[in-house]
Amino acid sequence: MIILKLGGSVITRKEADKPTINHENLKRITREVAESTHQKLIVVHGAGSFGHPLAKKYAIGDEIQDNLDLKKKMLGFSLTQHAVKELNGIVSEYLRMHGTLSVSIQPSSFILTKNKRIKSADLTLIKRYLELGFVPVIYGDVVLDADESIEMAVLSGDQIVKYLAEKLKPERVILATDVDGIYDKNPKKYPDAQLIETVSSLEQIETGEETNIDVTGGMGGKVSELLGLLDLEIESEIINANKTGNIKKALNGEKVTGTTIKR
Ligand code: ADP
Ligand code: IPE
Repeated sequence: MIILKLGGSVITRKEADKPTINHENLKRITREVAESTHQKLIVVHGAGSFGHPLAKKYAIGDEIQDNLDLKKKMLGFSLTQHAVKELNGIVSEYLRMHGTLSVSIQPSSFILTKNKRIKSADLTLIKRYLELGFVPVIYGDVVLDADESIEMAVLSGDQIVKYLAEKLKPERVILATDVDGIYDKNPKKYPDAQLIETVSSLEQIETGEETNIDVTGGMGGKVSELLGLLDLEIESEIINANKTGNIKKALNGEKVTGTTIKR
């Protein structure tokens, strides 16, 4: 089994202030998925401009001040849930159009967090879908939180990747983003940043302020989730999905430039 995450930076225009799909990338990437010779596959995708701006505007996951604030956050939750579900519909449809038997899985309908970390999620149906040969497509979403001071949380696709990997023990975990992998510093800000081929601790990198729209920790958040998998002996790879052929090659087990998270 392979878990593949498609970052919001690749499938959407992440810096746009309203939900904007990157159709060109989505078309190419979903074709590459269909052309690859993987066996069981779960696709996880990020929210990009469909999720971050709304989650930030309504401060989902921040402490609730009073009843009025709760109502505002609930409106934000409803709007964000709708927007990311719409994105999920588009991603699933693109996958299906190119020949992948995708099925949509909505996190907010079965995942509960406590203090922003997944507390419970019943994976029985996902396992059954996989057994039948479907490709479950799950995504970064807003979910209910068991902590009454926040009630709701933003759940990143990266945290979902970690949770699914822990429970389902895939052979490979691949995260596709818009840069070649992890650098010693943000490559978009520093042209002299160096790609690190193997990362085994957070101390090796500097992530800086990230893009100001990312509410789930950007590259730093991603790396922390993946480092957590090392305790279970699960390695992962970060690759660039903006480069044609990378997704197909990675799914086929061919070498692709990127960063491996391993001990
Ligand atoms: P995604 O939306 O694909 O999940 P993110 O936007 O969360 O990805 O993270 C990718 C971004 O992280 C890159 O576009 C890059 O600008 C930024 N970044 C910050 N620090 C680093 C670093 N040390 N190495 C690589 N990328 C970094
Ligand atoms: C974020 O998911 C979810 C919401 C903002 C609702 P991700 O953190 O996985 O999204 P990307 O990949 O960074 O865009």
